[in-house]
Amino acid sequence: MILHLKYYFCQMDKKRIKFLSLVTLSLAFFAGILSFKNYTTITEERINKLTTEMDLHTLSNYTLLPIKHSEINLKVNFEQKKLSGFVTHEIAKKRSVSELILDTKYLKIDSVQDQNNKSLSFSMGDFDDLFGQPLKIQLLEQTDRVTVFYETTEKAEALDWLMPNQTAGKDFPFMYTQGQSIFTRSWIPIQDTPGIRITYSANITVPENMMAVMSAANPQEMVAGNTYHFEMEQPISPYLIALAVGNLKFQAIDHRTGVYAEPSMLNECASELIDMGKMVDSAEKLYGAYDWDRYDVIVLPPSFPFGGMENPRLTFATPTIIAGDRSLVSLIAHELAHSWSGNLVTNATWNDFWLNEGFTVYFERRIMESLYGADYADMLALLGYQDLMDEISSIEPSMQSLKLKMKGRHPDDAMSDIAYEKGYFFLRMIEENVGRESMDKFLKQYFQDHKFQTIVTEDFLNYLDNNLLKGTGNDLVVEEWVYQPGLPKNCPNVVSSRFEIAEKTAKSFVEKGALGIKPITANWTTHEWLHFIKHLPNDINVEHMKDLDNVFGFSNSGNSEILALWFLQSIKVDYQPAFASLEKFLIKIGRRKFLQPLYEELAKNENHKEWAKNVYKKARNNYHYVSYNTVDKILN
Ligand code: BES
Ligand code: ZN
Repeated sequence: MILHLKYYFCQMDKKRIKFLSLVTLSLAFFAGILSFKNYTTITEERINKLTTEMDLHTLSNYTLLPIKHSEINLKVNFEQKKLSGFVTHEIAKKRSVSELILDTKYLKIDSVQDQNNKSLSFSMGDFDDLFGQPLKIQLLEQTDRVTVFYETTEKAEALDWLMPNQTAGKDFPFMYTQGQSIFTRSWIPIQDTPGIRITYSANITVPENMMAVMSAANPQEMVAGNTYHFEMEQPISPYLIALAVGNLKFQAIDHRTGVYAEPSMLNECASELIDMGKMVDSAEKLYGAYDWDRYDVIVLPPSFPFGGMENPRLTFATPTIIAGDRSLVSLIAHELAHSWSGNLVTNATWNDFWLNEGFTVYFERRIMESLYGADYADMLALLGYQDLMDEISSIEPSMQSLKLKMKGRHPDDAMSDIAYEKGYFFLRMIEENVGRESMDKFLKQYFQDHKFQTIVTEDFLNYLDNNLLKGTGNDLVVEEWVYQPGLPKNCPNVVSSRFEIAEKTAKSFVEKGALGIKPITANWTTHEWLHFIKHLPNDINVEHMKDLDNVFGFSNSGNSEILALWFLQSIKVDYQPAFASLEKFLIKIGRRKFLQPLYEELAKNENHKEWAKNVYKKARNNYHYVSYNTVDKILN
């Protein structure tokens, strides 16, 4: 029996749908076969599919009337720390609804017009802490373009406004946006869901002597007049719309890659990222053509809350990867890899976040392997494995499956090593079973077949079964990996002889002293040092720390990863000589990955917590919302 029901139940739960199906079933029985245009067949399977495919972190009606293209027109006002202007969305003329619902959060909506400058009536729905406020716009019959006039407010979660003294050059202010996961709605009224893809264009007006760049085709020099025009011709999800404005300069790496940074940092950044061109070449060899024209990186001021953000064509990066020795460039390989996994093939909901990140970590390590060898990539994998083990022992089982249930929670809570590292090991496990050649062929085809689409985990699982695993007779316990907590038994085992030495050295240090182990460490990479610090014995005391610091100078390391780990160890054993340097670090750096464990460790001890609260008074203003929101909760 076929059931027909209008395709409008996106907000309904399963029970309701079943009930409606039953009613419709009886109707169908009496009325014979009902068949309307725009009506969809509902089967149990279809219901399941719809409930897994829906993004539950948007208040928009994106399934009914998805936006196709947006034109963003904004003026950047540094004095008032706000963006103001208008955005025009293109929508389909043929539609089943008379209302367009957009996501907003903390926006001041002024008015709404259609393509003929006719006012459209609109209303704001209830405010929700997590989602913000739906903007409901009544459409006229002929409406196919909707323009919203608005401005951002002080509370905009996406935006970071920096004073000149918070930049490298100290002469100009700076601002940047962070869209992922649900922050775009705080600077653009839009259907803020990874379930849609749009192309966009933009006109951004900035003050004199400043440059604007976006996740789009970018200028390489400052323009006369103060308005920058942008085009993003490939359809992307709204969390990938991004803007940065500052006193920026560009330097090319090769014909299609380059770096943006403040002038005083530019040379250093370009030299650190010298391998970017090679990375793009090697990524293309692995999984197919780079589809985004140019690949550039902007190195932002230190408040940037993430290591990197894969904004299409223009990765946003933290300056903490500029170590001077190119030792932290795997982060660029990671963000570049998102040009395939994430930006080309996009998770349709935040429950499927591992599709973005797990694939990207796998791809990142393949790029690193092809540039720097398997030994190097395996060190990264082993560091990842340890993080994963720590994560599994500390988070609730319901958060340990690849596919998550983030309903009612902030999607950023999905950012754990489960998505990244369990995702990585899942793919590596498949690779080890089918062989690298088959895996690469499969992945290349996967990107090809899903490019510019948004998909859920189940789409991938079906594809995997049909194109790689079916008929092989291997039971890879795929369902266990995806839907169960913990790590299945067939998780690959990574060994690294370089790490074994680092671990042994850490164990022998108490006996030998820092000078005693120094010869062994002569050619160590950053990763061996990280492994070493992580494996220092539990009974290490302040004298040991002093000894290490005297010989290796950890408290003043120029490498942010080593520094952060050293500080963590210093807090644990109350090694006071490191605290002055720790204070400087906490005040300057806004990268959450570093801040969170440090503040958490500090909060474990009353004296340290008091100290941390004092430091935080000076530091908080230097953090983006993403970071201070996290630290606020730790220090309450
Ligand atoms: N897309 C993520 C950053 C992100 C995730 C922002 C979730 C908001 C919500 C980015 O690609 C990323 O994973 N960055 C990592 C670096 C990477 C090398 C693991 C980071 O910032 O630490
Ligand atoms: Zn990522």
